[in-house]
Amino acid sequence: MAHVIVGVTGGVAAYKSGEIVRAFVKAGDDVTPILTRGAERFLGTRTLEALARRAAPDDLYPHLADADLLLIAPLSANTLAKLATGIADNILTQLALAFPAPIVVAPAMNTRMWEHAATQHNIELLRQRGVRVVGPAFGELAEGEVGTGRMSEPTEIVEACRAILNQTGGGELVGRSVLVTAGGTREALDPVRYLGNRSSGRMGFAVAAEAARRGGSVTVIAANVALAPPPGVEVINVVSAAELADETLARDDADLVVMAAAVADYRPSAPEKSKKKKDEGNWTVAFERTQDVLLELGRRQRPGQILVGFAADEGEQGLAAAREKRQRKNVNVIVFNDVSRTDVGFEVDDNEVVLIGPDGETRVDKRSKEECAVAILDNVIPLLASA
Ligand SMILES: Cc1cc2nc3c(=O)[nH]c(=O)nc-3n(C[C@H](O)[C@H](O)[C@H](O)COP(=O)(O)O)c2cc1C
Repeated sequence: MAHVIVGVTGGVAAYKSGEIVRAFVKAGDDVTPILTRGAERFLGTRTLEALARRAAPDDLYPHLADADLLLIAPLSANTLAKLATGIADNILTQLALAFPAPIVVAPAMNTRMWEHAATQHNIELLRQRGVRVVGPAFGELAEGEVGTGRMSEPTEIVEACRAILNQTGGGELVGRSVLVTAGGTREALDPVRYLGNRSSGRMGFAVAAEAARRGGSVTVIAANVALAPPPGVEVINVVSAAELADETLARDDADLVVMAAAVADYRPSAPEKSKKKKDEGNWTVAFERTQDVLLELGRRQRPGQILVGFAADEGEQGLAAAREKRQRKNVNVIVFNDVSRTDVGFEVDDNEVVLIGPDGETRVDKRSKEECAVAILDNVIPLLASA
């Protein structure tokens, strides 16, 4: 159970803060709501106090001492500016200035307010100081305009807070660095065309989200993933296999590395410098091998580190090849995916995998990729503990 202070400022999205408070209370957390006077124009203090099952404090200091996290949602442009400059003219801004634990903010405002140079400067200052910023999202705003400025969904905000609380509190991966690759690389044929694969990144993002939920400090190397980043996770975007190799190998000291990305094995050896014009003839392209990142990680593996690779292959023969790959590449666990099936694997919601580890094999029956991620980490974390 954590103690969370939920600050609410004056904006239309203030009504959603009730949902946020409820989600924390439901999870067993202790919530102290603090509303600015601006927020009270949108929401009754009593409503939040009732949802939190406790009154906003008159004396802030005892709450400061034992709070694990301060969330401000929604965060108005006005309070953001105060936080950026250190103004402490109300109970919430005083608290933020003296707060010793992590701060999470979820800005919400009109698109033009959000895009204004002053606001962008202020939010960047907060980021630099280690404040976690969730959103804002793109969508329809209260005034009927469409743009960036909507407060992120309460579930996303609470998840981001949960990931941080796990990092600073309980969780099996607390104090562990986790590196996950996700998505599918693209290899240029010319400046506008590429060869890619059908990996959506959903499996890798699910592993990253689950690792963050368990308290890991998680970085995802994302190759062409069109999904929203998992809350509480650092995402580094890459395009090609070479970029993925560079970013991954630069972080080869992570405690747990999960290579879920579909990385190209071959790339055009001499991509065209400008767009190839259509003519009557065929186009023959020569390919060269890309770097085998998993093999290289296996070579570099340090004591105490756990490596997990994925093998997308077909049927029983593919499974046998995956067993061989585990040995040859010196990785601890291979997650075998049967890509001959259309109901699991690439571009679909479900997966069915076989986990090939040092102590035998575990078949994980068809289930959502999120549930597969849970099974994978349940399988791998004991290895990390004993490595
Ligand atoms: C109807 C209405 C809606 C508003 N919505 C927002 C909003 O979504 N975001 C924002 O930053 N300010 C919004 N404002 C302006 C703030 O309420 C105003 O800047 C106020 O001083 C914020 O005070 P606070 O930051 O102390 O809560 C709105 C004002 C009104 C009257």
